[in-house]
Amino acid sequence: GSVLSHIPGVGSDSNLEEKKILCVGLACLDIIQVVKEFPEEDSDTRCISMRWQRGGNASNNCTVLSQLGVPCEFFGTLSKQQHLDFMMNDFKAHNINIDNCVYYDNCDTPISVVISSLTTGSRTIIHSNKNLPELTLEDFKKLDLSQYGWIHFEGRNVEEVTPMIEWVEMWNESHSSEQDRGYGLGHKPLPVSLEIEKPRAAAQDLIPMADVLFVSKDFAEFRGCTTMSETLRNLALDTKHNATIISAWGERGAMARAHDGTFVQSPAFPPNKVVDTLGAGDTFCATTLYGLSRGFSLQDCIFLGCQVAGAKVGIDGFVGLN
Ligand code: FRU
Repeated sequence: GSVLSHIPGVGSDSNLEEKKILCVGLACLDIIQVVKEFPEEDSDTRCISMRWQRGGNASNNCTVLSQLGVPCEFFGTLSKQQHLDFMMNDFKAHNINIDNCVYYDNCDTPISVVISSLTTGSRTIIHSNKNLPELTLEDFKKLDLSQYGWIHFEGRNVEEVTPMIEWVEMWNESHSSEQDRGYGLGHKPLPVSLEIEKPRAAAQDLIPMADVLFVSKDFAEFRGCTTMSETLRNLALDTKHNATIISAWGERGAMARAHDGTFVQSPAFPPNKVVDTLGAGDTFCATTLYGLSRGFSLQDCIFLGCQVAGAKVGIDGFVGLN
């Protein structure tokens, strides 16, 4: 059967009335060259195959959420120049709402050139973002937050994302009497999750703002951590006291710290052959969010996250996860 068919609730009609998950961050164009082996510097190699793919963490999160049957929206900036059709058509093909995206003229679509090695499954990314402006707080304030059941932020554009999360907090305060929607985060009507992936100092300022924090292995190592449990203990010093902290380390699986301080863990589920690791972290994150937004236990959430990420690295791209 399909990879996702055994996951509780996937594709069920009960989701129709559901509020959207909003993913805020980057959409870019990934130009992927698949090679047998990673080339030597200054060599001349023929690829095995090549493809264009819509990328960017928040955009990839939406691709996976949508396949899991979750209504979702991507919120970010897009260039009106070259490649807009490709990007918009692909969002549409994946049933991802982009109604509130902000368009800019006279600037280029961010592009990643990706070398994907079949021997190891490694993905080497060279990213360029010449001049596409980031979202602003003013853009964010135009959203009707009552449409959403969850907001996920990519840990970038820190100066603007900080007041965006504060804005959500204010909204939460004025809506806290609304009934719990079953997200497992108490009374909070609109939980905020945040993913910090890049090993950069700036995003650290966002750590205390998240209800649910995802940190990558790269970022954990940047903080001087060498294991997943050390990472969770380290981050817990800076998060809200009752935050959920989640870290996935590829073939080492994932570990998470629940809001009450208890730890849960999942092994990785590697496929027979790893063919494409591009967006594996985004897949883990989206699947875990899916579970959290449905009120699954944290253990079940990271277990599902590892399973679907494992399935993803066994296939090219994201098509056919479901
Ligand atoms: C994968 C990804 C790619 C994109 C790059 C941006 O996680 O989102 O799709 O090119 O990272 O850093």
